[in-house]
Amino acid sequence: METERGIPHTDTLSPSEFPTRESRLHFFPEVPSTMDIARDLARKGCPAFTVVAADRQTKGRGRLRRTWISEHGGLYFTIVVRPRITPLLGFRVNFAASVVLARLLRDLFNLDANVKWPNDILLNGKKISGMLTEMEVTADRIAFINIGIGININNDPSDKEPQATSIAKELGRRVPRKQVLAGFLDAFEHKIQETDLATIIDEWKSINATIGSQVRIVTSNTQFSGLAADVDETGALILELADGNRQRVLYGDCFHQTI
Ligand code: BTN
Repeated sequence: METERGIPHTDTLSPSEFPTRESRLHFFPEVPSTMDIARDLARKGCPAFTVVAADRQTKGRGRLRRTWISEHGGLYFTIVVRPRITPLLGFRVNFAASVVLARLLRDLFNLDANVKWPNDILLNGKKISGMLTEMEVTADRIAFINIGIGININNDPSDKEPQATSIAKELGRRVPRKQVLAGFLDAFEHKIQETDLATIIDEWKSINATIGSQVRIVTSNTQFSGLAADVDETGALILELADGNRQRVLYGDCFHQTI
């Protein structure tokens, strides 16, 4: 197996290497999508913070029905969360995940990681991670929120996605995927269990790259361009349009315009 500075090309994510969460970590060399396996486990009642991780996905899914290219070297996982909050506040869990991941990349690798609305992570303006969320509600309570996270670590996505980069590309060296997964899971679990997330939008704002940028938002049936003026307490992006009107945007693809 190819190695560079001691990090194997595909370093292992075997559950036995995560002693505190061995029984809740399900690892597969290859799956269609970790989202499907996590959904089945969640519907069958698996414990909170169960994780499904894979070295490679053949049908990785992105937001807005896009494909998420999932080649060897990247980190692909879905975490099952069962927060005791109203479904209306479920979005806070996604914002918490992006805040935790951006801070982790700063702390571990001194990378200038920022969040792009709603939950992408950027390095030097290029995407390094995306998140996909699936929530199921029963009797007005959240049954589960599954957060699927793809992180470009030791892969190089830039051939197929020029606006993407990876940790290895930015640092000029490979890093252990296990360090990123373990660091994220510990910090995320702590954040969800120990804080009420009421201030998560403020935390998100403190490391975001979107507010203050000219952006184009593309949804399935329309698009808007304007200045990203704010993110409100529901996670919606507030755009200032050219005609001076304000537009509240709840979902869509966000492109930062370079002027
Ligand atoms: C996006 O930016 O569009 C979201 C990408 C989410 C990709 C992750 S990889 C792990 C999990 N499994 C999937 O099929 N998708 C998510």
